Amino acid sequence: MGSSGLLQPALRRLEVALGDRSYPIHIGTRLLSDASLWSQLLPTPASRRLALVTNDCVGPLYAETLKQALDQLGCQITTIVLPDGEQYKTLEGFGKVIDGLMQARMERKSTLIALGGGVVGDMAGFAASCYQRGMPFIQVPTTLLAQVDSSVGGKTAVNHPLGKNMVGAFYQPQAVVIDLNTLSTLADQELSAGMAEVIKYGCIMDEAFFQWLETHVDGLMSRDPELLAQAVYRCCELKAKVVAMDEREAGARALLNFGHTFGHAIESEMGYGQWLHGEAVGCGMRIASQLSCQLGLIDTPTKRRIERLIAAAGLPTQAPNWPAQIYLKAMAHDKKAESGEIRYVLLQAMGKAFVRPVDDQAVSQALKASQGPLEQQA
Ligand code: NAD
Ligand code: GLY
Repeated sequence: MGSSGLLQPALRRLEVALGDRSYPIHIGTRLLSDASLWSQLLPTPASRRLALVTNDCVGPLYAETLKQALDQLGCQITTIVLPDGEQYKTLEGFGKVIDGLMQARMERKSTLIALGGGVVGDMAGFAASCYQRGMPFIQVPTTLLAQVDSSVGGKTAVNHPLGKNMVGAFYQPQAVVIDLNTLSTLADQELSAGMAEVIKYGCIMDEAFFQWLETHVDGLMSRDPELLAQAVYRCCELKAKVVAMDEREAGARALLNFGHTFGHAIESEMGYGQWLHGEAVGCGMRIASQLSCQLGLIDTPTKRRIERLIAAAGLPTQAPNWPAQIYLKAMAHDKKAESGEIRYVLLQAMGKAFVRPVDDQAVSQALKASQGPLEQQA
């Protein structure tokens, strides 16, 4: 699998190399309760004044374990609990975090810890970017999706009814702490959603990893801890590389949106929270592969490999049966659009992607083809 091989204890720390804003990604087991790690991450008395932001699903599962470790360091902790769900990833939810920070009199050098999946991480990270023009924050991702993607790289945001993640900021955390044990309580559907982003990395930048996923998808879906650890490590390694190269998405980082242009349209049209983000991305990758194949960029066997892996990960493959105009209108809000032109992440081979505009007719054809079951594809 790529160059990383098995996850050795010595390889548990990665770095996102961004000059004086570089930060570590710690990957391992039982890290929530690792007081010595937290002691390193919170070196000063000011940083030990903490806001722990979580939600009403993850909080009851993990907040106490983390608090016990932080208590050992004498931290002063305020807990802010948000309602659970993508539908609450709004400016109102963001306002709740800010209210909590204000009420607790958090200071500019206090620390915000985001404990949860991508929704908590994105929303709390955005609040950290705005509170007193920016306070330090640490990502503690607890879903597979957040561990392999959203917690790394500093994209923070909330949704707008007209478009996904439309209000936000690039704001890097001080550290990412990935405790693999948290995956044990994740629902199967959420594990599948995380696999969408895992598969994405193979498609766009690592053919060997894609092959590895084909071999191990069943083991990953049955939560083999060593396989999950390896997948998380490799994805973080790839993401850290892309972010170090292109922090603010001037080029290469846009490739991480493979399947997302279609996926975001599905999420916003369906109503946030109806399909999980990862499910919409999984289906979006089928549409984007179909489009790449239709344009003669990849061959049918390559497209079929992607379809098979998406299906094996338990992700939906049939796009909602809406007219193409609905998708096109929703996709006009995509953040990659330039001068009103939608730009799509396409594959030119397994492990190689690029971005370009495509005419609406070809997109409509790909959408239509992706609305049927996989078997019906020619
Ligand atoms: P999520 O945060 O809604 O979590 C999914 C569900 O799992 C929620 O109900 C959550 O409470 C629950 N949960 C979390 N951890 C758990 C655990 N350990 N055990 C049991 N239940 C747990 O969704 P997500 O899939 O983690 O993240 C999706 C969000 O991430 C979307 O809003 C998407 O836009 C965003 N995202 C951001 C980036 C980025 O770069 N910032 C990248 C990809 C996705
Ligand atoms: N998940 C896309 C990015 O971080 O750029």
